[in-house]
Amino acid sequence: MIYLDYNATTPVVEEVAEAMYPYLEAQLQTGNFGNPSSSHEFGRKTARAVEEARLKVADLINASAREVIFTSGGSESNNMVIKGVAEKQRESGGHIITSEIEHPAVREPCGYLEERGFEVTYLSVDETGMVAAEDVKKAIRDDTILITIMHANNEIGTIQPIKDIGRIAEEHDILLHTDAAQSLGKIPVDVKELGVDFLSIAGHKLYAPKGVGALYCRNHESLTPLIHGAGHEFGLRAGTENVILQVGLGEAASLIQKRQKNEEGEELKQLTIYFYNRLKEIAGDSLQLNGHREKRLPNTLNVSFVGYEGDKLLSLADKVAASTGAACHEDSVELSPVLSALGVSEERGKGAVRFSLGWYTDRNELDRAAEALYSAMQRY
Ligand SMILES: Cc1ncc(COP(=O)(O)O)c(C=O)c1O
Repeated sequence: MIYLDYNATTPVVEEVAEAMYPYLEAQLQTGNFGNPSSSHEFGRKTARAVEEARLKVADLINASAREVIFTSGGSESNNMVIKGVAEKQRESGGHIITSEIEHPAVREPCGYLEERGFEVTYLSVDETGMVAAEDVKKAIRDDTILITIMHANNEIGTIQPIKDIGRIAEEHDILLHTDAAQSLGKIPVDVKELGVDFLSIAGHKLYAPKGVGALYCRNHESLTPLIHGAGHEFGLRAGTENVILQVGLGEAASLIQKRQKNEEGEELKQLTIYFYNRLKEIAGDSLQLNGHREKRLPNTLNVSFVGYEGDKLLSLADKVAASTGAACHEDSVELSPVLSALGVSEERGKGAVRFSLGWYTDRNELDRAAEALYSAMQRY
């Protein structure tokens, strides 16, 4: 199998597994299993591990440790912000601004709030999947309480102008959230530079395990918690800490920071370009790129094999693990909301395939994937 679906999830890298292991096999003798809230040494030991992990995540995004709240993943972080701000700010208004291409983990909480009387503006995007900062400005109303626009899109990889939107949000004194589940680990993310109040992190997109994530929260007073209980996570998310997974997320954050210092992201970008050129060789003019040419995640390649159905092509090239952008039924085609928002035609959308590369991808794998796809096209 050739895994080209790193935007769906990433494997846990060895260093991360190794960092977690002492907490997984924790026995009475090691003392690595204590409840971080306990005041004895068992508790102090795991509390230190959690705090070290928090600091590593904070360092990666240029935040302070207190601004990082551990959660169960990207979905929870997004829900926490959107519902939490709505609950807290209900008095000051009920309007939220988002985009048409958000992940369901943003779209659904927004829909949930609409059913409860809030109003949501869904900004459209251009044909590359880009939100115009100017449109955000125009959508602001007196009762706007939150702007939530993703940092990079999971399907097409387009990177949004969050920094510009950050300036607008600041000018109007409106809270800004960005879902960085896909961008963190692939491009540098600096919360100060972006000017965001909240930023969502998903562990399993950055070589940490599934079921752990974090929320950057600049001001703890700006939201109401989703999970009430004891005072964990600065009183913002109750529940005894998942020490093992949080240690894993911390280690992944450190690894990413090291890789970014060594500019290893550039290698991935070159590999993605190499793969695009290989696909162009085999598919010629029937291959079209979806998303932005430059302002795109370095690992993400969403292309349409026009004249083909992505699903069928991938089932014929079954060694290649990738995702499609449309569900083809007998007499109808259902494009993903993202491709629909881009205005992609049915013909083009049908043939869309998202390839997403990662730390373990090499040229040899990409050559084999291109050959498998070429053979699938011949047998189509
Ligand atoms: C952009 C984006 N946001 C949020 C999520 C959800 O993250 P999690 O699976 O950690 O809940 C995903 C995962 O697919 C994503 O791609």
